[in-house]
Order: sequence, then C-alpha cells, then structure tokens
Amino acid sequence: MISDALLERIKEKLKGQRKISFLVGAGLSAESGIPTFRGKDGFWVSGSKNYQPEEIGTKAMFDVNAHAVWEWFLFRISMMRDSQPNAGHRALVEMQDLLGDRYALISQNVDGLHFKAGSDENCLFLIHGDLRYMRCSEECSKQLYPIPAEVADQERTRSTKLTFEELQLLVCPKCGEMARPHVLWFDEYYNQSYYRLHDVLRIAKETGLLFVVGTSGATNLPRAIVNNTLARQGIVVDINPNSNYFSEKLSSKKNGFWIQGKSGVVLPRVVEIMKEHL
Ligand code: OAD
Repeated sequence: MISDALLERIKEKLKGQRKISFLVGAGLSAESGIPTFRGKDGFWVSGSKNYQPEEIGTKAMFDVNAHAVWEWFLFRISMMRDSQPNAGHRALVEMQDLLGDRYALISQNVDGLHFKAGSDENCLFLIHGDLRYMRCSEECSKQLYPIPAEVADQERTRSTKLTFEELQLLVCPKCGEMARPHVLWFDEYYNQSYYRLHDVLRIAKETGLLFVVGTSGATNLPRAIVNNTLARQGIVVDINPNSNYFSEKLSSKKNGFWIQGKSGVVLPRVVEIMKEHL
C-alpha cells in the first residue's frame, strides 16, 4: 500500500520539526455512510427535490427561497445526525495525540464527525463551516448559534417541509432576522473570521508533510493549501481510492505521492508508521 520510497520520505519528515497536517474532504466520511458531493448518489449530483445543487447552495437562492435552502440543509443534518465516525476519523485523533503541536487538521466536512471522534477544536480548522451552527443572514454580528434542537433533531427526507413553528426558531436571536446555516456557499468567498483562511494558508507553509484525504480538489482553498506546502519543499501525499485533481497534479512532482486506497484503511496504517518512527 505504501511504497518503500514513500515510507523513507515519511520517516524523514517525521524526524523533522515541521508540522504534519491533514486536509480532508467528504471521502473521509464516506465509510460512515454519508454521501460525498460528486460521487454516485452525491449531494451535488442528486441535489434537492426541486433544485439543481449549484442553485440550492448559494446565498442568492437563500435570499429568494430560504425555506427550500433550509429544508435541504436540514435533510443533510438529519442524515448526519445518526452517523458515526469511522476508522479514518479515529486514526486522525490518534495522530493528533501522537503529534501534539505539530498536528493540524483542515477539514472541508461540515458533518460533525470529527467532534464525535474526539478531535480537539484547537487544531481543527473547518474551512467550509459547521452544520451544527447557524448565524445571522444579515450579518448583524459574527456570532454562531447552535441550530435549535427542536428543528435539528427531526427525522427528514428530501421532501420534508419546514413547519411555520420551525421557521420561527430559525431566526437570529440578536436581531430577529432570518438565520442561515453556517456554511460557505458557491457564490461566497473564503474569509478568516468564519473559515480560517489566513490560518490555514500559514499552516500549509509550515507543513513538512501534508496528507490530502478523500477530496476531489474541486474547491480553491484546498488547491492553494497544497501549493503552499509544495512551494516550501513539503511533501504531499494524496489518499484516495480514485484518481482526482490532486493525484494527477502530484504525479508530476518529486514531492508528490498518491496512495490509492480508502481512508479507513490507509490512515490506520499511517498511525502504525508514526508509532514506529516518531
Ligand atoms: P467530493 O464529492 O468532490 O469528492 C470526494 C472524494 O472522496 C472523491 O475524490 C472520492 O474518490 C473520494 N473518496 C470516496 N470514498 C473514499 C474513501 N473511502 N476514502 C478516501 N476517499 C474517498 O467531495 P469534496 O472534495 O469534499 O463544499 O468536496 C469539496 C467541497 O465541494 C465540499 O466541502 C463542498 C462541495 O461543494 C461546500 O459545501 C462549501
């Protein structure tokens, strides 16, 4: 699974001082039963009941039809609520404990499974938001509020309608305007205050060994993170059963590697290597 050449490079980086970071995407949670975005049955492929995915995940759509957007996100929350972390999530927590200050986890996932697995919030950077929370759609403040349990804890399908009572709970507690899910949408930009933009770009530069796990590489910031690590002579290892933007890009780099496999299998093997060579 891991070639001798790659093992040597990993051992060399483990002995150094630079950070060892993980950049993860929806593939990490696939083994927990949560659909990815672009795979067969993916969220973005199937979309919501009535809208194309690129429409439903936008502020523009929220502004004209907040109900439909909330219904779709609440359907996803309902699916995530009962799911459990898998061997990949647990391996990340083990590595966090082994590496201490040298560890950083940059996640595109909003499904809450890192928390269920026991990830430490201090070294976890959620660059696409966190679906446990909502915030004011009018930005009266940057405060995040837990999505009320009366709404978040309901069982839902793609076609479940929001009730009037539920809608009244999805408001900003401070100003009374409509609240929105705390996620980055297609027509919005990364920033520091919600999505830790500057922190993760800095971490990428400080990283000597970056594992890219279960992501297709479709979004901008993950690409910039990989570029920052490569630019400072860090090595980047893609873990993915399928070829993707990163496996292609890394194939032409001397510091780039691809381990073709599932995260729930490969990450526990990386833990073993760390235990042996740190
Ligand atoms: P994608 O659905 O685009 O890609 C999922 C990746 O996971 C694919 O490359 C799969 O091959 C891989 N994969 C599937 N099963 C796997 C497994 N068991 N182990 C490892 N890899 C596996 O999802 P993301 O790359 O996460 O953004 O998508 C990035 C962003 O696009 C999402 O965060 C979301 C979406 O628009 C926002 O919502 C802002």
